Amino acid sequence: MHQLMLCPSVMSADFGHLSREIEEMDNAGVDVFHLDIMDGAFVPNFALGLQDIQIVRKATNKLVDVHLMINNPGAYIDLFVSAGADIIYFHPEADNHPARVVGAIQQKGKKAGIALNPGTSVASVLELLRIADYVLVMTVNPGFPGQSYLPFVEEKIDALLELKKECGFEIVIDGAVDKEKVWHFNAKGVLGFVLGTKSMYGQGGTYKDVVERIRAGR
Ligand code: DX5
Ligand code: ZN
Repeated sequence: MHQLMLCPSVMSADFGHLSREIEEMDNAGVDVFHLDIMDGAFVPNFALGLQDIQIVRKATNKLVDVHLMINNPGAYIDLFVSAGADIIYFHPEADNHPARVVGAIQQKGKKAGIALNPGTSVASVLELLRIADYVLVMTVNPGFPGQSYLPFVEEKIDALLELKKECGFEIVIDGAVDKEKVWHFNAKGVLGFVLGTKSMYGQGGTYKDVVERIRAGR
């Protein structure tokens, strides 16, 4: 059995009661809170900002990640570190010097993750795989929750599972993850899963029930 890291996507939580939502998910046994940051330019949508990160940071002692769907992410690393992020994912094509961004995150004592769009090839990020702590594989085009899973990405996940053995990064899957996909890919060696509209929210029962069902089934 492989280690499992469950990362609820905060974007789809009830923002009328954000702190309570975070506390309930924390008590339910999730591992990392996943915060989608969108700038309306890198992706055609806006989501979450620094104030949201601060609220989540105050409500839990668990790890908080930020998934930066923004242009020029390297310019904002200090800002997101100060807001309380433990893991920073960015899209390498959004910065002119992605290896420098990885280094800047790690120099702050934080974990650096590269996020790969469905259309981004492994070959185009090979060098970064040697230095990144995490690879966030997008199984939908980024920008919106509730989209359909793109099955062609599995070939890339398989290739990354091979490369992970020599490079040492961990893989996290983001986009249309349901519990069957958690079980399927965790059995292959994928560590982390972003849980959104198909696995964490609207599933019936409490968050504790939801997390227990996911952990029990694998
Ligand atoms: C998509 C975001 C995801 C999103 C996933 O752009 O990066 O984190 O919240 O939502 P679901 O699981 O509903 O596809
Ligand atoms: Zn995300």
